Amino acid sequence: MEKPKYHICVCASFRAGGDPKGVCHKKGSSGFLSYIENEILERGLDAQVTSTGCMKACDYGPVMVVYPEGHWYGNVDSETAIDDILDALEGGGPAAQYLIA
Ligand code: FES
Repeated sequence: MEKPKYHICVCASFRAGGDPKGVCHKKGSSGFLSYIENEILERGLDAQVTSTGCMKACDYGPVMVVYPEGHWYGNVDSETAIDDILDALEGGGPAAQYLIA
């Protein structure tokens, strides 16, 4: 198995019981997964996107994390925000306006 260069984790607010209960889910984070998938393909990025449980940064939701950079982004609530983050990834740096850690 080949590992992707980038791993994009999108908080879908899952709790231990499996239910999505949290800020990110309520703000539509799960709805962005297919948009991110399409952008990855269109941009030719070597990246994989995964939905996750709560990342314990709910105050900043929706939250998205990009590895191996370790960039934590908050308030990722639009396709524009995702575009900005992916543009920055392609450019080799963070999208500073969304960084929370
Ligand atoms: S629900 Fe997304 S960080 Fe908690």
